[in-house]
Amino acid sequence: MDSIELQGISVRYRREKIRSLKELVVRGLARRGAPYFYSLRDISLTVRSGESVGIIGPNGAGKSTLLRVAAGIVTPSEGVAIGRGNIVPLLELGTGFESELSGRENIQFNGALLGRSRAQMRAQLDDIIAFSGLEQFIDAPLRTYSTGMVARLAFAIATAVDAETILLDEILAVGDAAFRARCEERIRTFVREGRTIVLVSHETEEVVKLCKRTVWLAKGEIVADGPSEEIISRYETQR
Ligand SMILES: Nc1ncnc2c1ncn2[C@@H]1O[C@H](COP(=O)(O)OP(=O)(O)OP(=O)(O)O)[C@@H](O)[C@H]1O
Ligand SMILES: [Mg+2]
Repeated sequence: MDSIELQGISVRYRREKIRSLKELVVRGLARRGAPYFYSLRDISLTVRSGESVGIIGPNGAGKSTLLRVAAGIVTPSEGVAIGRGNIVPLLELGTGFESELSGRENIQFNGALLGRSRAQMRAQLDDIIAFSGLEQFIDAPLRTYSTGMVARLAFAIATAVDAETILLDEILAVGDAAFRARCEERIRTFVREGRTIVLVSHETEEVVKLCKRTVWLAKGEIVADGPSEEIISRYETQR
């Protein structure tokens, strides 16, 4: 069974025009050229249920855009995106969180956004708090958390809510070594249980460890797609 199926996906944005004298002074005259910029161009990609897929590529390659399309957050300009089963995205840090609410309240809030009932979330509250390692801070408002602390909470929630597929966009990068090791262990368990992971990362070692397959993106297109070790060694030698 497929978890995610992308057929001929393009995402394009209109190039921004100069709208004020200040912009004109700062930027000079607008470059003439195509009115659109393609973040993704004609991408076809199938992720089967139970696969662990890494997405690599330089800044601006379209990796985050690809995950947003897979999560249904961005509507493609062309093509069809199909996601099956329960897909939990863990994308920009802090989305789905409220800074004035406490960590504990955010677990309920985030769970509700993911379609979980209060009772379901209450049943998992202790596990989520324990995994996050934030017991001491859990009743403080989220605005007082560090970036890594928010990531811990987000990862703990996303992996506790009984997802079939999780989409991770550079979430582990902000965690410390100890938390990263626990996340890796949880991701391995996840995959062992037959669930699906799509992981965007600049840490190629992490991708080799966690993902069997890797997709290399550049300038909105797929450069290569295959076994992680092979794709990553090609990626590293061309840099
Ligand atoms: N809302 C938007 N409007 C205009 N351009 C956008 C928008 N979102 C993304 N882009 C452009 O699309 C391209 C791909 O962006 P994306 O965030 O997917 O890259 P990425 O591969 O995740 O990069 P990074 O490694 O830096 O996270 C970039 O050039 C970016 O400027
Ligand atoms: Mg990105």
